[in-house]
Amino acid sequence: MSNIIELKNITYKYSTGTPFESVAVDDVTLEVEKGEFCGIIGHTGSGKSTLIQHINGLVKPTLGEVYVDGENIWSKDTDIRQVRFKAGLVFQYSEYQLFEETVYKDISYGPKNMGLKAEEIDRRVRFAAKSMGIDDSLLERSPFDLSGGQKRRVALAGVIAMEPEILILDEPAAGLDPIGRENVLGLISEYHKQNGTTILLVSHSMEDIVKYAQKVLVMNKGKIFCHAPTDEVFSRQDEIIKIGLDVPQITRVMMRLRAKGIDLGTDIYTVERAKQRILEYKENKNNA
Ligand SMILES: Nc1ncnc2c1ncn2[C@@H]1O[C@H](COP(=O)(O)OP(=O)(O)O)[C@@H](O)[C@H]1O
Ligand SMILES: [Mg+2]
Repeated sequence: MSNIIELKNITYKYSTGTPFESVAVDDVTLEVEKGEFCGIIGHTGSGKSTLIQHINGLVKPTLGEVYVDGENIWSKDTDIRQVRFKAGLVFQYSEYQLFEETVYKDISYGPKNMGLKAEEIDRRVRFAAKSMGIDDSLLERSPFDLSGGQKRRVALAGVIAMEPEILILDEPAAGLDPIGRENVLGLISEYHKQNGTTILLVSHSMEDIVKYAQKVLVMNKGKIFCHAPTDEVFSRQDEIIKIGLDVPQITRVMMRLRAKGIDLGTDIYTVERAKQRILEYKENKNNA
């Protein structure tokens, strides 16, 4: 089976049976292929965080079934701890969870919990630190001495050190400055290329998502608005704007041009592709 994640008709309600009952995820069915880099976008409150927390069993659906690697994670025979090792979740503002005296100890916390041997733990700590651009010289430092971006990357390394098959990242670049954002997202993208890990990355920035993800999942009011390759998602750009989400700046420029009668295509979301289409357009005009 090539789907590493299957959610079948998942509904999640907070505060069930109280006057505050609210549906955060509403009858969602989703299939994610092994090795996919899926960017998840949607308004605040659209259910992104609640949805992704189903995949490692942090929340249990009110209704529906969750399969990871073909296994129903809530069946009696499944060890939920193993599911958590398989699907590593990095929370939003994950650096608040750093607590050890040294960076090394913090990163080794996960693999230690897995009961691995000291040698293997050491290999993983160094591998994870390197993957997240943490220099060896920082490993014996206190995490609290590091910059915001470094702390964030240490927190990510802590989950990467468990070498999960699925890496779930909730707004990994939130609150960082533009250089810090590029840095952390670039490292995640490189990690994906090198290791082929399935990645689910929540972001509120469409620009970031189109730059790094292969597929885009748009959440809207607890439902999946779409989950498709980036090109396809942007062919529905008018609808995306209608539900109040942003499209990349360059896509807006192309929409303006189309309104003026110059249609270069609805699948343009990078400056590079825009450039290519403009040059083709000029070429055709010159030949006409
Ligand atoms: N712990 C909670 N208790 C009650 N309601 C919650 C809780 N967490 C989230 N919600 C509600 O669930 C809905 C989805 O929230 P969330 O999954 O955090 O969305 P997102 O990550 O897209 O911002 C929102 O209406 C939110 O108010
Ligand atoms: Mg959230």
